[in-house]
Amino acid sequence: MDAREMKIKAAEAALAYVEDGMRLGIGTGSTAEEFVRLLAEKVAGGLKVEGVPTSERTARLCVELGVSLKSLDELPELDLTIDGADEVDEHLRLIKGGGGALLREKIVASASTRMIVIADESKVVATLGAFPLPIEVNPFGLVTTRLAIERVASRLGLTGDLRLRQSGDGAFTTDGGHYIIDASFGRIPDAEALSIELNSIPGVVEHGLFINMATLAIIAGAAGARTLEAKR
Ligand code: A5P
Repeated sequence: MDAREMKIKAAEAALAYVEDGMRLGIGTGSTAEEFVRLLAEKVAGGLKVEGVPTSERTARLCVELGVSLKSLDELPELDLTIDGADEVDEHLRLIKGGGGALLREKIVASASTRMIVIADESKVVATLGAFPLPIEVNPFGLVTTRLAIERVASRLGLTGDLRLRQSGDGAFTTDGGHYIIDASFGRIPDAEALSIELNSIPGVVEHGLFINMATLAIIAGAAGARTLEAKR
């Protein structure tokens, strides 16, 4: 089974949790897109759901495939969000934001009663941090914010390159008009502490550590899909 087939397997398994009439948060990324394609087939077959997309990119795909969308202000409370992840640990702590949509993804997930993560086995890790942690920052005061991130990281014993994400000729800009700093810490033994510290920096808009948000992960591997439940 290749990587795409595994993403489809995970997305298929997630579809079983979607019920008629649900208000659905719809994630961003290549795995979430497989989910949107399968969801669109169900919608064409008569399933009624209302989706809130986590990015402009996801919104475009949903519109193209006929999945009905609402804004989060129209549907401020959601039944279920289904989204991908860059890393998942056994406590269902996640790193997200590889696709740059982490802020909307976190807002939408926090508005949802349940969040199901869909991923292939390559995303499962013992300790978060091999994937560079995306930190969404306000363009104003970028250098100050970066220094503050370095200080916070160093207090927690974390070192590594902090790189401003690029796109084409300039800095990558999120749907919210912010920048992303990708922090290559390697290992993040205390994700909770780092999350709190990063949130205390004024120029940090949000970061890609999702803690106590996912309620279930569907992990697809060569042998099929398995589920991971949060150990809390
Ligand atoms: C988007 O910002 C991310 O959080 C994605 O959910 C994450 O990067 C997973 O993407 P893939 O499914 O493409 O690996």
